[in-house]
Amino acid sequence: MTTPLHETTLASKPSGDVLAIRGGRPLHGRVDVKGAKNLATKAMVATLLGETASTLRDVPDLSDVAVVRSLLEVHGVRVTEGDEPGALIFDPSEVESAHFEEIDAHAGASRIPILFCGPLLHRLGQAFIPDLGGCRIGDRPIDFHLDALRKFGATVEKLPSGIRLSTGGSRLHGANIHLPYPSVGATEQVLLTAVRAEGTTELRNAAIEPEIMDLIAVLQKMGAIISYEPNRVILIEGVEKLRGYDHRSIFDRNEAASWASAALATDGEIFVGGAKQQEMLTFLNVFRKAGGWFDVREDGILFRRDGELKPVIVETDVHPGFMTDWQQPLVVALTQARGRSVVHETVYENRMGFTGALIKMGADIVVHPHGLQDGPRRVARRDLEQAAVITGPTPLHGADIVVPDLRGGYSHVIAALTATGESRVSGVDILSRGYEKFLDKLTALGADFDVIG
Ligand code: EPU
Repeated sequence: MTTPLHETTLASKPSGDVLAIRGGRPLHGRVDVKGAKNLATKAMVATLLGETASTLRDVPDLSDVAVVRSLLEVHGVRVTEGDEPGALIFDPSEVESAHFEEIDAHAGASRIPILFCGPLLHRLGQAFIPDLGGCRIGDRPIDFHLDALRKFGATVEKLPSGIRLSTGGSRLHGANIHLPYPSVGATEQVLLTAVRAEGTTELRNAAIEPEIMDLIAVLQKMGAIISYEPNRVILIEGVEKLRGYDHRSIFDRNEAASWASAALATDGEIFVGGAKQQEMLTFLNVFRKAGGWFDVREDGILFRRDGELKPVIVETDVHPGFMTDWQQPLVVALTQARGRSVVHETVYENRMGFTGALIKMGADIVVHPHGLQDGPRRVARRDLEQAAVITGPTPLHGADIVVPDLRGGYSHVIAALTATGESRVSGVDILSRGYEKFLDKLTALGADFDVIG
């Protein structure tokens, strides 16, 4: 039985934070993926822009969703259950400014609060975003956001406790914005702000991930005028008012890719209900080259091995490239491939830390902190890339490991399931940010584990 959404995440979170996993058993069975975390949370923020209530369908029961829901409620949005499981209704008719203490208490560790800026500035003329911790809200990770908001006419004041923004009593106006990098979050920031700004906004070097396109569809349903031009240009003609929407979220392709890699790593067979081919084309190519077999069906995709695993060379990139969120579970499978694989990470500066645990379990992985290539780049990059060289196959053995982050943590669990012997995996709770009913799904796939902490 599914947990009702109003009970939100606590009920579906792992009951413990530490798992004892006995590996060596292939995962077999079916898991279903719901709406994408990286769309649902943004579409929820968009409800603040409407004058009437919105309905979002296939909302995943995740802790990041719970954080955004709490923040909306703190600002006066009434959230109720919709007419089918997984549907939520958001009524913004009584939105009001919230006290800092309340915002701070509800923000959790999520970065999504930064996206409240534009909608709150339109509704209330001001917004306050708490400091979510140095690494999250330091200058660098949100500089594109703040620069864009200033261009729309907002004043940005940095305080020790967070960031205060104000319109100074005027309506925000359209702007010409060229992002230094096609950032997903900054593109969303611009979209959520430009739709109700006065005049036209031209956004260049925009992110064009499928979740962004789905957010554009949501905003169009609300009455926005947004056109997608060639070469990463998005034009937004601001309107005075928007209404609520009724929308079914795009599926979570990151979760789908994670389970596909789990089938590959454990030599199992997993049907991922709700997965679709179109949004996963790049992943499926790499999956096939690595020795994976898949069958695209009406209601999902079946994944398993096609004989021996093969090494691949992969570079993470913005869409339509290979997503940064796909590499960590794939690396586990590549430890079982015959030969040398290379995974270049070019999107985030520190996304290879999870390989330490795999090495402890017997994997042969060498991380090059400054990348490997000296030649010209296909796309101009910031100086942050890293590369992991994985040589296989290496048998993995059980170990005591600590989950570092969402995708790295998933890869640790899959490594423990691939390994012989018992592993103790701590910090599993963090997986509830991005994997709905994670432990139930592992159980359904025949994983052998106990919750011990
Ligand atoms: N960046 C800046 N300044 C900014 C914004 C971004 O330097 O103002 C940099 C980042 O530090 C990073 C790069 O630009 O190096 C790309 O960041 P982006 O803004 O595209 O990522 P994001 O919006 O913070 C979203 C997803 C991530 C996903 C990335 C890339 C959400 C909530 N998060 O992050 O998902 O990896 O896009 O596609 O949508 C996950 O689901 O586990 C996850 C981390």
